Amino acid sequence: MSSRVLVAGGTGRLGTLVVTYLASRGVQVRVMTRDPARAAHLSGNNIEIVLGDVRDPTTTAAAVAGVQTAVSAVHGFAGPGHISPASVDRDGNITLTQVARAAGADVVLMSGVVPASDSPMELFRMKHAAEVALTASAVPATVVRATAFLELWIDLLRRTAGRAHRPLVFGRGQNPINFVSVRDVAALVERVVTDQTTRGQTLEIGGPDNLTLDQLAWMVAGNRAHRTSPRHVPRAALHIMAATVGRIRPELGRQARAAIAMDRNDMTYVGDAVRIRFPDLPCTSAGDLL
Ligand SMILES: NC(=O)c1ccc[n+]([C@@H]2O[C@H](COP(=O)([O-])OP(=O)(O)OC[C@H]3O[C@@H](n4cnc5c(N)ncnc54)[C@H](OP(=O)(O)O)[C@@H]3O)[C@@H](O)[C@H]2O)c1
Repeated sequence: MSSRVLVAGGTGRLGTLVVTYLASRGVQVRVMTRDPARAAHLSGNNIEIVLGDVRDPTTTAAAVAGVQTAVSAVHGFAGPGHISPASVDRDGNITLTQVARAAGADVVLMSGVVPASDSPMELFRMKHAAEVALTASAVPATVVRATAFLELWIDLLRRTAGRAHRPLVFGRGQNPINFVSVRDVAALVERVVTDQTTRGQTLEIGGPDNLTLDQLAWMVAGNRAHRTSPRHVPRAALHIMAATVGRIRPELGRQARAAIAMDRNDMTYVGDAVRIRFPDLPCTSAGDLL
């Protein structure tokens, strides 16, 4: 069996690190992207770029052909249009599972903490459906569930800070959320790809920080030496956004509903089973990154 690994979503924040870590260990990595220009930052002898879309069984089957393991690090949360959690996170991952089964490949599926059929977040409902389909498929698979990516939220807060250096927080910003560094998640995914004993298992990874968005915003602002208070988009405005512009631009409605859910649901995480099992995994805090 080939030791070649496919990373669908290999151009993304997590996928880029997974590809880099695996390739640097000598693993032959195939990156599937809808646009090879997005893979321009990925190069090296062990990296192959192929065109493909998980919504398309033909290109997905071609990408999976000859690999031992297919990693799914895709998501359709940000749209636009027909690119959605339903078309990518559920149906795309089901397609990937089906072609992996036909090709005799393993699957490593990226998911969130915690997907459920009744989650207020569409993304988590679709991840749940993908997990259920994967488990029912009998494909040897590992699911990796991660909490919110710290680097993504730091970037968002930095980008919205503007000239006033006041990051924009959606909602009240008082709800503790677990943030994990994408570096830690990538290190776990790299481990899981090559560790066959994790097949048939679901591993959850969180970070050391349960922080409110206000706390993270203060840290981001402080790091820029402009210690100013965050601005807020009130929940009422998020509800209006979801009910109005969200009808025309579903991705904006999704983002508004996700912001409301993150502002009021329990988003904390305290489990450390994965770090006990893999004690050499990095454990990166917000303070480390900032
Ligand atoms: N961000 C978080 O806080 C978080 C938390 C927990 C779990 N996760 C999961 O971790 C994974 C990586 O997240 P990320 O934030 O690193 O993603 P990201 O940077 O936004 O990248 C998304 C990736 O999805 C790919 N993609 C989207 N639609 C696709 C399609 N139809 N066919 C093939 N590829 C497609 C994109 O590839 P191209 O554009 O090159 O085609 C891109 O590489 C996802 O599964 C996500 O759900 C994320």
